[in-house]
Amino acid sequence: MSSERAPQHDPRHEPVMFHEVVDALAVHAGGRYVDATVGLGGHARVIIEAAQPGGRLLGIDRDPQALAIAAEHLAPFGDAVVLARGEFTEIAQICEERGFTPVDGILIDAGVSSFQLDTPGRGFSFRRDELLDMRMDPDGPVTAADIVNTSDEADLAAIIFEYGEERRSRRIAREIVARRPLRTTSDLARAVEAAVGRRGQDRIHPATLTFQALRIAVNNELDQLETALEAAHLLLAPGGRLVVISFHSLEDRMVKQFIREHTRDCICPPRQPVCTCDHRATLRDVAKGGRTASDDEVARNPRARSARLRAAERLVEAA
Ligand SMILES: C[S@@+](CC[C@H](N)C(=O)[O-])C[C@H]1O[C@@H](n2cnc3c(N)ncnc32)[C@H](O)[C@@H]1O
Repeated sequence: MSSERAPQHDPRHEPVMFHEVVDALAVHAGGRYVDATVGLGGHARVIIEAAQPGGRLLGIDRDPQALAIAAEHLAPFGDAVVLARGEFTEIAQICEERGFTPVDGILIDAGVSSFQLDTPGRGFSFRRDELLDMRMDPDGPVTAADIVNTSDEADLAAIIFEYGEERRSRRIAREIVARRPLRTTSDLARAVEAAVGRRGQDRIHPATLTFQALRIAVNNELDQLETALEAAHLLLAPGGRLVVISFHSLEDRMVKQFIREHTRDCICPPRQPVCTCDHRATLRDVAKGGRTASDDEVARNPRARSARLRAAERLVEAA
């Protein structure tokens, strides 16, 4: 285990698996790192500390509220930290503009933050009655209310099924459509409860998966991640590391598949006798099977239970 200390600024926001992140990134003094989901700057702080003397870090986020807090938290590092508002799909352009290529390590800590879930007015959670929004970027084009009020029933069911892995998606979509317009998080939670009922023994609130599905749709999370993975690994210097933490199986499957594909010299169908793909491995898997949070961390932070970290290293001979 590495010797980094937990960031001191806010114990409620200890970044997930931060020892494992610094190890997987193989952070070294003088290195150049990108935190593509800088959030409140928790991981960024441990990375930039471990990269001293001489290290630099570029932090990217689409959420200006989070970035403003990150700027305060990371101010002690002065010019060693640069922050940029943007989507991580634009990582290549953002790095280029800031003189951050090639890089020694890139972190993507995907998904929504506790800060976003817990901040009043963001409309992510059924735990608070407020306008149904769920945009990580408050200037984003579509809110959750837009989706529930304008999608046709079949599309809505598909979103809830695909992104929420919710078996009862059709029933829920039917009830939502019958109750339109839905304005608030409580309107949506009540529609889901009316569709599927609420049993005392349920481990999670019946609307949990529907809220997850809408959040993923509003923020286009899976497409964004897929594009970012492709762009990010091309920015790595030989020996540079890409580290991704995901919080649900849809994301993790995508990351696993991405690493599998880029660590193989041939991606022809298995039964094809002769290779015709010309594909060459550009990465090496450095965390086979993925890593999960320690029992101690899960006890301190239950959200860490669903985190899975995967990591790959750019091959020296990659084209
Ligand atoms: C799990 S939080 C990261 C927390 C951060 N590691 C920390 O230590 O505070 C995910 C962050 O990624 C941002 N995010 C998610 N998808 C993004 C995207 N496509 N482009 C840019 N930022 C994104 C969210 O706004 C959120 O602040």
